[in-house]
Amino acid sequence: MAHKKRMLGLLGFVGAGALALGLAGCASGDGGEAAAGEGELISVGFVAVGPEGGWREANETNIQDTFTEDAGFDLKYAPATNLDQKSQIDAFTSFVDEGVDVILLSATEASGWEDSLARAQEAEIPVVLLDRGIEPDDPSLYVTRIAPDNLVVAEAVGDWAVSAFPEGANYVVLEGPAGVGVVNERNEGWDTAVEGSNLVKVDAQTANWSAEEGKSVMETLLKANNNDIQLVFAQNDEMGLGAAQAVEEAGLTPGVDVKIATIDGTLAAMEALAAGTLSFVHEYNPLFGETAIDVVEKALAGESVESYIIVPSEAFDSPEAAQAALPDRKF
Ligand code: AHR
Repeated sequence: MAHKKRMLGLLGFVGAGALALGLAGCASGDGGEAAAGEGELISVGFVAVGPEGGWREANETNIQDTFTEDAGFDLKYAPATNLDQKSQIDAFTSFVDEGVDVILLSATEASGWEDSLARAQEAEIPVVLLDRGIEPDDPSLYVTRIAPDNLVVAEAVGDWAVSAFPEGANYVVLEGPAGVGVVNERNEGWDTAVEGSNLVKVDAQTANWSAEEGKSVMETLLKANNNDIQLVFAQNDEMGLGAAQAVEEAGLTPGVDVKIATIDGTLAAMEALAAGTLSFVHEYNPLFGETAIDVVEKALAGESVESYIIVPSEAFDSPEAAQAALPDRKF
């Protein structure tokens, strides 16, 4: 995938070379003032994922805690029903029909959004992607995507794995659900890093972001490979923590016999890293509500915004690093 122009989200916005928002960016018509009149609240339709795990809860709570009435917003939260895309498309359509000023979208599925995004553009309602990208990716259909860079994050996990196993290792990948954009991005980043190394991919299976499935899938993989697995790349914390349980129940020691690397950086994973149960945790920073507000205000004012805003995220590669970070963790 061509790497789009990116910037660190917390650095703010640039004018030159950025995506102009004349088309759908302003609901005010002449692009000169924000959509809502003086003193009116800006109406925001949040097409959300809903209950999915610790990362999602942190992200969606942060968005709701940031887009408050005191901040000038009327946020309408619409979580998916059981992660079902149709319920998201229905909510998206309702927001367009209602004529909200802006739509925030965290997509449960990467594909299938063309019609919805075209309708929003026709209604001159700007759409901001939170976390999840869309496929095919057409930046003319949305204002920007705000997310940590999955390619960079997953490549950093792969680089750590290569350095941790210079003589090689058998590894498995526990993936998020098929069809979710970040899963493909994380596989691409990891594969880039481990290409040409001594690491051997034994298997890859989805465990649907869940600890329970992470444990059951890992149990199966250990049995199928006579416990000859030394490394797990779990694409989120919950699956990695579940895998650690399976490793222990197989009579092996996580962090010693099997090193487990995860993405998200939730509290449970950081505590597990501090205890040596996990071996590497890359944060996928969910706390970007302030950046999202900046984007919404710029979009409604017809100002330019980069088409992909990267949220900085840290890597933690030792118990000491986790112990030092834990007092300041916010999710
Ligand atoms: O899209 C981000 C992913 O979705 C997180 O890594 C995972 O925990 C969440 O469910």
